[in-house]
Amino acid sequence: MSSTIESVLQETRAFPPPEAFVKQANISGMAAYEAMCNEAERDFEGFWARLARENLLWHKPFTRILDESNAPFFKWFEDGELNASYNCLDRHLKTQPDKIAIVFEADDGKVTHVTYRQLYEKVCQFANGLKKRGIAKGDRVLIYMPMSVEAIVAMQACARIGATHSVVFGGFSAKSVQERIVDAGAVAVITADGQFRGGKEIPLKPAIDEALAMGGCEAIKSVVVYKRTGTSIPMTAPRDAWWSDVVAGQPTDCEPTWVGAEHPLFILYTSGSTGKPKGVQHSTGGYLLHAMITMKWVFDIKPKDIFWCTADVGWVTGHTYIAYGPLAVGTTQVVFEGVPTYPDAGRFWKMIQDHKVNIFYTAPTAIRSLIKAGGDLPKNYDLKSLRILGSVGEPINPEAWRWYYETVGGSRCPIVDTWWQTETGGHMITPLPGVHALKPGSCQAPLPGVIADIVDETGHSVGNGKGGILVIKKPWPSMIRTIWGDPERFKKSYFPEDFQGKYYLAGDGATKDEKGNITIMGRIDDVLNVSGHRLGTMEIESALVSNSKLVAEAAVVGRPDDLTGEAVVAFVVTKGPRPSGEEAKAMANELRAWVAKEIGSIAKPKDIRFGDNLPKTRSGKIMRRLLRSIAKGEAITQDVSTLENPAILDQLKQNL
Ligand code: PRX
Repeated sequence: MSSTIESVLQETRAFPPPEAFVKQANISGMAAYEAMCNEAERDFEGFWARLARENLLWHKPFTRILDESNAPFFKWFEDGELNASYNCLDRHLKTQPDKIAIVFEADDGKVTHVTYRQLYEKVCQFANGLKKRGIAKGDRVLIYMPMSVEAIVAMQACARIGATHSVVFGGFSAKSVQERIVDAGAVAVITADGQFRGGKEIPLKPAIDEALAMGGCEAIKSVVVYKRTGTSIPMTAPRDAWWSDVVAGQPTDCEPTWVGAEHPLFILYTSGSTGKPKGVQHSTGGYLLHAMITMKWVFDIKPKDIFWCTADVGWVTGHTYIAYGPLAVGTTQVVFEGVPTYPDAGRFWKMIQDHKVNIFYTAPTAIRSLIKAGGDLPKNYDLKSLRILGSVGEPINPEAWRWYYETVGGSRCPIVDTWWQTETGGHMITPLPGVHALKPGSCQAPLPGVIADIVDETGHSVGNGKGGILVIKKPWPSMIRTIWGDPERFKKSYFPEDFQGKYYLAGDGATKDEKGNITIMGRIDDVLNVSGHRLGTMEIESALVSNSKLVAEAAVVGRPDDLTGEAVVAFVVTKGPRPSGEEAKAMANELRAWVAKEIGSIAKPKDIRFGDNLPKTRSGKIMRRLLRSIAKGEAITQDVSTLENPAILDQLKQNL
């Protein structure tokens, strides 16, 4: 596997969609796509207003479309009122109440079906239970749940009563949870006793107890605990209540709380260039619109389709393409509790076969690890149900693309390589399955109404055949509204003065080929992408130096990795003498465990190097470019004459 990925074959073939596919597609052929792009160009606001009227159910119709008066704090459909949960559930009650909304497969293989009516009733009961516990419109609720029907119910119930949820991925530490509770000003937590993943039981509630004991969380009045594992856990009355008690006796109807289109549906924390994660705030109307149209355009969703997005609801992909998009368009979706390699690396393929999945959406990291664990395994399963494959979260290397296309998709399923971000709310740049001839490894073309471009440092388009900075030149409905509690940081991060505050800066570098196909080259800021998870180098550095007993100074960089895309490499100056041999190994392990406790296991450095100092210029600036070269094992070709302490480089090159 390693050699195949290293050889990264440059795939130059284009893969046009089969004619039969084009014929049935929701956006059928290039002419249809171009007509939509032209419509958006001719009448940008009219285009989005038409879609918002056609797709969303409005309690009070909007009369204003885009408000740019306080740019870059854009508002969409502001005077309209709606409810996201009503749009995802109530709308199906008359037309398809008995259709399966969720096929839930547990870690141990047990399958549960939930119809749209049942899901509606679960959400209403839980929403009523939350209201009874004093949670109201505008409150922030932190959700720390395993992949489960209940996680979706929790999100939908918050939406139903106008509470703003903030889901924290179950792999994050107690400290991360505490920081997010404080930053969001949350008043309640919804969690579970624990979760099952890969045959192992992992506790969740203890992390909440630990977080709440850290201080600053006094506003938390209520902790609702879903019983998943049944392992005994401490419950603190009256703060803590079991989910089953919260819903007991509650009516199965709950009038939705109507909110303005700009009402914050959720806050989701993600990493940026500084040490502190950003609370990305999303709206209700614009966000849900984008979730719906991309289900239709990109996944070409049809009434009979079975859709499966393998993300966790702790990430934005699990928000848009599990908790909201599939429900709003009334699809049947698979929700999976476990991991792709348990009980063996055929799990995904068996699930596709068992549930007759038509549209399968996963991340390159999962694809690469499954090639490694059993590249021939898909052949043992009947994958003929598949119609479309999707990729998200990081660049997909052409080798992995080809395997996905041929071995999983039987060379008949278009792959939609969807570029987007926590901040964009939904897909932005992606081939459309019934339109574009696929170019492996490239996300190719912006969606109609998304005005993406690649510019140089002065903001001028670079044109075809060149590389530069990826920007979005016009606002779009599902865009980030602000960073929760930090509007200045929002402006600085995304609408910098470099471009007169006019363009949304995605933070990615990209190229355009001669035909205009866009390919993402990776982040241009201090953000790493490890297994499709976003991590800030500064965040990991702060975690390391917070170990004041051991660490004097630390610098973190990324290094390409065959399996995880990028890997975290940390350079550490210790308080005591520089460790070596076994002592260095033990200290590296201790620091890894420390980072896991501070942030979460996903942030653990793969490689830790110790030095008496870090390579610095005479003015004291750490030369990160040198560190990146050392991390990659490259020969150092940069000028090191300005370096204060060149001898340090040899120390840092030593692998443990
Ligand atoms: O660098 C890009 C990469 O993931 C970043 C966004 O990360 P996050 O907010 O965690 O959202 C991930 C899921 C939407 C981007 O700035 N990225 C995302 N999709 C792709 C990608 N890189 C290349 N190709 C993609 N399809």
